[in-house]
Amino acid sequence: MSVQIDHLLNETRRFAPTADFADQAIGTSKLYADASEDRLQFWADQARDLLHWHKPFTKVLDWTNPPFAKWFEDGQLNVAWNCLDRHVLAGHGDRVALYFEGEPGDSRAITYAELTAEVKRAANVLTKLGVQAGDRVAIYLPMIPEAVISMLAVARIGAVHSVIFGGFSAESLRSRIDDANAVLVITADGGYRKGRVTPLKPAVDMALTGVPTTVRNVLVVKRTGNEVEWTDRDLWWHDELASVDAEHEAEGFPAENPLFILYTSGTTGKPKGILHTSGGYLTQVAFTHKNVFDLHPETDVYWCTADVGWITGHSYVTYGPLANGATQVLFEGTPDTPHPGRWWEIVEKYKVSILYTAPTAIRTFMKLGRQIPQGFDLSSLRLLGSVGEPINPEAWMWYREVIGGNVAPVVDTWWQTETGAIMISALPGVTVTKPGAAQVPIPGVAIDVLDEAGVHVGHGNGGLLVVTEPWPSMLRGIWGDPERFIETYWEKFGEENPRYFAGDGARLDEDGDIWLLGRVDDVMNVSGHRLSTAEIESSLVSHPMTAEAAVVGAHDETTGQAVVAFVIIKYSHLEESSHEDIQAVLRAHVTQQIGAIARPRQIFIVNELPKTRSGKIIRRLLQDVAEGREIGDTTTLADTSVMQVIKSTLR
Ligand code: WTA
Repeated sequence: MSVQIDHLLNETRRFAPTADFADQAIGTSKLYADASEDRLQFWADQARDLLHWHKPFTKVLDWTNPPFAKWFEDGQLNVAWNCLDRHVLAGHGDRVALYFEGEPGDSRAITYAELTAEVKRAANVLTKLGVQAGDRVAIYLPMIPEAVISMLAVARIGAVHSVIFGGFSAESLRSRIDDANAVLVITADGGYRKGRVTPLKPAVDMALTGVPTTVRNVLVVKRTGNEVEWTDRDLWWHDELASVDAEHEAEGFPAENPLFILYTSGTTGKPKGILHTSGGYLTQVAFTHKNVFDLHPETDVYWCTADVGWITGHSYVTYGPLANGATQVLFEGTPDTPHPGRWWEIVEKYKVSILYTAPTAIRTFMKLGRQIPQGFDLSSLRLLGSVGEPINPEAWMWYREVIGGNVAPVVDTWWQTETGAIMISALPGVTVTKPGAAQVPIPGVAIDVLDEAGVHVGHGNGGLLVVTEPWPSMLRGIWGDPERFIETYWEKFGEENPRYFAGDGARLDEDGDIWLLGRVDDVMNVSGHRLSTAEIESSLVSHPMTAEAAVVGAHDETTGQAVVAFVIIKYSHLEESSHEDIQAVLRAHVTQQIGAIARPRQIFIVNELPKTRSGKIIRRLLQDVAEGREIGDTTTLADTSVMQVIKSTLR
């Protein structure tokens, strides 16, 4: 990575906004000036301009008890009202909110008036089922309009959603349902993926059967029509929606009312339930969606390819775009089904003007070749966004040239589940962009790069990325675990002057622009999805064949990183089964326990693992093996011959 960057810095490729783009841009340099003049006033102005408050706030930020922040505390709002009713009342009821494109090719255009009507009914169903403000609702759905409708219905009644990505297994689903004590699960019979039906309801049944649970009902959307088993607690979504009143009055809730929990991987085996609240979150997602993507809601067609199971889908499919009255595409399927040009066909069909996706997708398309996108009319695209992992300069250039026709600006946006909204990005009408750099903090956000001792590294140097001031969409905690919240994010640089430690390495170039260098902890990034080495290791070790396991994220051309496991197998099993069989069994085991996204690309069966004298596994050395490099410094090894042994067993 650093080699590429140095090479690039020497080349100094830069792209200034064109005069045409800058003239019409929503976000101007005035935003930076306003924010630096008075940061809190700036966010208060944004909150008032972008949102409707049922009860206006008078306080902006309470940071008297760090790291527990309160934003706009005495204000009240209804998040769903802000995303729906107010646009209808403003006369935009006929504007399309969602162009839904199903994987089999079915499509549905849903206007703001229609979406509002559906959410009102769904909110009435939740109330009928006894869901109250503050209760948790688990959502386990494919990328269909009902996913967005469910989230907004939960928000509308002041309850808290926990969306669980459809690719997670029954076990992962169960632990998330339990951790949050959800009272209701919303799911579907199945979804379409790669031309086939993937059932979802059976995983919910498995997660809830035979264990004590707080779940009272399961609401089931009919999407694929496959047979499903039925229990007393199950209800069909369409029956329930038809049975309730069409009207629903949205009441205001306090700005700090919890909006959602989203589980994400950390450095230990147990996923963290990241908690977000309402007013500050909605302010920053609406602000960034409007200014970073230069959204002109009357004319733009926006498409974010993320699944609602991830934070990008929360902030930039559901809340940001709808708060801003955008028209957007919602796509159920995968990029290559039924043909590798599917995405570009969708861009052409809906005249998508703003596209937001991940580097892993861009690199996949690069590999397939430019002739595929070039077979479609992509001239509607005028802005491209990237998120999820560092984008290498080559992919950035390809994105700009091939997808953006050499004119559409590319914005690389850095943020996290924890930050809730974009934190570092270019503003496309202002910033001179450099391929591969995330560039600058957005107006109103304060970022620094520090060395281990907490000292600013200065231009031209690398270090650890921190956020130095509280921001409106910051996480408010880890569900049920305030201690872990403090330890994980706020203790590294002392308690006196709390700074948020992101877990990412970064470098400041000579101009002070920020380049992200990837995680510095044991969190992997596979296709833009966060996975914890510890979580996969504990899954591998939970299999009776495994004596010990170590997992590393190895560099991968397409997915950024890939899961590579090193396992020691108990002697008796080694005698009974072939290596191939053992590898297949362990792969299936991880898939069943966590989900297909965590399935190791490779499993190496070894006799020993490299450890320090105190018994800590030295992952760095395994990473060298996994990436086929010369093995680095082995002086800290308890037994220096172990790497030779490992290497020889792999040949
Ligand atoms: C990485 C996704 C470099 C980073 C929104 C971060 C990035 C983690 C970028 C969060 C980017 C995200 N450049 N790295 N533009 N965006 N990351 O919580 O390592 O799924 O800590 O949030 O992804 O992943 P998460």
